[in-house]
Amino acid sequence: MRRARRLRVNKVTRELVRETRLDMKELVYPIFVIEGENIKSEIKSMPGVYHFSIDKLEEEIKDIENHGIQNIMIFGVTAHKDWCASSGFDDNGIVQQAVREIKRISPEMNVITDVCMCEYTDHGHCGIINDEGYVDNDKSLEFLAKIALSHAKAGADMVAPSDMMDFRVAAIRKILDENGFVNVGIMAYSAKYASNFYGPFRDAADSAPAFGDRKTYQMDPSNFNEAMLECKYDIEEGADIIMVKPALSYLDVIKGASERFDVPLAAYNVSGEYTMIKNAVNQGLLNEEAIYEAVMSIKRAGANIIITYFAKDLAKFIGRY
Ligand code: PBG
Repeated sequence: MRRARRLRVNKVTRELVRETRLDMKELVYPIFVIEGENIKSEIKSMPGVYHFSIDKLEEEIKDIENHGIQNIMIFGVTAHKDWCASSGFDDNGIVQQAVREIKRISPEMNVITDVCMCEYTDHGHCGIINDEGYVDNDKSLEFLAKIALSHAKAGADMVAPSDMMDFRVAAIRKILDENGFVNVGIMAYSAKYASNFYGPFRDAADSAPAFGDRKTYQMDPSNFNEAMLECKYDIEEGADIIMVKPALSYLDVIKGASERFDVPLAAYNVSGEYTMIKNAVNQGLLNEEAIYEAVMSIKRAGANIIITYFAKDLAKFIGRY
């Protein structure tokens, strides 16, 4: 007689047969850096997540290290915005300064930079706008490549294009190789959906589009097959790591990509997913272990790498499970 409950009978047995465990080493923690001095200010829409000025990074990076986090992803917030995102490829821009400072504080930290234009354009779109108000794919490539190169020059270990332009992975690989950055990896936001779950992030990064939406470049949330094609294209163009984003409403997409592709697969547990659970926990509506359960489900679905604002929260559960 088979009895399913036999293997749930006590804690040690449950731990023995546990199929999925999270590890701090597979987590990526996003951080927001902002121009100015002496700034550590909580982002209103994301409780427990802060904007940091460069001079406040030392303390934060040490704290991140003390939690066992080895990978971070940097987002920059700038005051100067224009049509072509010039502060994004300024070698002395906020992200470039942050990369240099973090590498000084912690040479071992794996520093990944988000490569996009929306934080730096006056219209908040992720590319160059043409006369018809349409985001011009091929014109945007040159600028995205310049941003990636500038991050690599500052010392980034990996660049993560999140713009969803076609051919940007190839354009970035080419410019990196031509400039000798053959070992700077590309983590491509391959299947990035036009999601409502980015709301809090756009607050944090001051990157909401001034008109229209991102539906001509980010994917329709209803589509699965298209996500597999996007992953395939990015691998063909040279992506070292592919990504599905968001994560929790897209576990089927993560599963599908993990079964089809052999490159490492990342999933982005985005700002809206974070804020929903964090607020519920803070209000006492959900037990804090809901955080572990949610992030673990992303791994169970097949992600190898998880980008999550919960990385510090998870440190207290990981190792106990
Ligand atoms: C930039 C970018 C976005 C996110 C990561 N990179 C926002 C967007 O596409 O509007 C979202 C991250 C999050 O919600 O946590 N394009």
